[in-house]
Amino acid sequence: MNEKLKAYRAAILHSLADPSEVGIEQSYQYFEDGVLLVEDGRVVKVGAAEDLLPTLKGVEVVEYRDALITPGFIDTHIHYPQTGMIASYGEQLLDWLNTYTFPTERQFADKAHASDVANIFLKELLRNGTTTALVFGTVHKQSVDAFFEAAQALNLRMIAGKVLMDRNAPDYLTDTAESGYADSKELIERWHGKGRLHYAVTPRFAPTSTPEQLTLAGKLLAEYPDLYMHTHLSENRKEIEWVRELFPERSGYLDVYDHYRLLGARSVFAHGVHLCDHECQRLGETGSAIAFCPTSNLFLGSGLFDLDKLERHGVRVGLGTDVGAGTSFSQLQSLNEAYKVLQLQGKKLDPFKSLYLATLGGARALYLDDKIGNFAQGKDADFVVLDYRATPLMTYRLQQANTLEEKLFALMTLGDDRAVKETFATGQSVHRRG
Ligand code: GUN
Ligand code: ZN
Repeated sequence: MNEKLKAYRAAILHSLADPSEVGIEQSYQYFEDGVLLVEDGRVVKVGAAEDLLPTLKGVEVVEYRDALITPGFIDTHIHYPQTGMIASYGEQLLDWLNTYTFPTERQFADKAHASDVANIFLKELLRNGTTTALVFGTVHKQSVDAFFEAAQALNLRMIAGKVLMDRNAPDYLTDTAESGYADSKELIERWHGKGRLHYAVTPRFAPTSTPEQLTLAGKLLAEYPDLYMHTHLSENRKEIEWVRELFPERSGYLDVYDHYRLLGARSVFAHGVHLCDHECQRLGETGSAIAFCPTSNLFLGSGLFDLDKLERHGVRVGLGTDVGAGTSFSQLQSLNEAYKVLQLQGKKLDPFKSLYLATLGGARALYLDDKIGNFAQGKDADFVVLDYRATPLMTYRLQQANTLEEKLFALMTLGDDRAVKETFATGQSVHRRG
């Protein structure tokens, strides 16, 4: 028996490139009866069972019936401290922050509470097949320690950061420009590049940081290679108006971040629902990314995301849940809602494009496509086993489906955590549905 190699047999599907660039047919690889071969937490090979199985004498083969293996989902924007306030009624962004979010985040001054929530949060991500996420903490540095400790215990590839917020928020939830800088630096030294963990400098959004704090955020990015920058941008019309009042000398919302040198590769802006062509162009030319968060945009009444416009300007786009403004941890549900957001604008979201957004596209947005996002040889063996028979309705609906495209679309539209049979991170099972 070869103890180190392990093979997983099922239908296997993964993205190879962006369908918008290469066309649908060239954008994916599919094996109706496939094998994914894993060793030491990495992908060795993916191929047809009839080709690979004869070469695997003595290798354990785990077989799944009525199942589809895909790469683990990537969530490019989510708040772990907001797990306990998901589905809070009645407000749009600014009132929602004051009414629900700030009091909830206050509790993360307590490290034990932060650890409890971090563990609940990670369990929920894995139940939903998400293996990598770009995650907001709270203003408290211990919230980020708690998160990274929990992620490290599961050997997950995760990106997170302490919120920077030194104005326009309750006193109990603000830092100062200097303390925010010092605390972030301490966390970067402790966590960035440790195992599969990465740090993101995380100003909440322009209204809650002074110019001094934004300057120091830019300084951190200049001081360390490969850091992420993670914030919100142009989500809600009242928010955009407020930014204009706070920064009258800047030409617009994005220009505030640009001025403080916060754009570039590994800069991820959540939402970008109301951007002009010039802003899209600037995001594209700097290699910045946008996190499209459909369930959140609908829930907070923020607006309809214009995917075509961002793509025309070459902006990297990932998919985010934005829990707790988002209403589901499931990227399948995010895709269900993304489809509707495009329908409302007279546009279509092809299921293979959806697959790309939730996997390789997210990896590209995060500049992690050399490590995750598909089953290319040597990538981290982070994958999910999806169940075509998760519910009676899915079973019945999929019996009527004749093509892969049709099956995939129904899976994305009807699926959620119930459709995730098992989740693997670096080849280790980290969730198995009961
Ligand atoms: N803008 C500033 N903070 C937040 C937040 O916590 N959630 C969302 N959706 N938008 C924000
Ligand atoms: Zn958010």
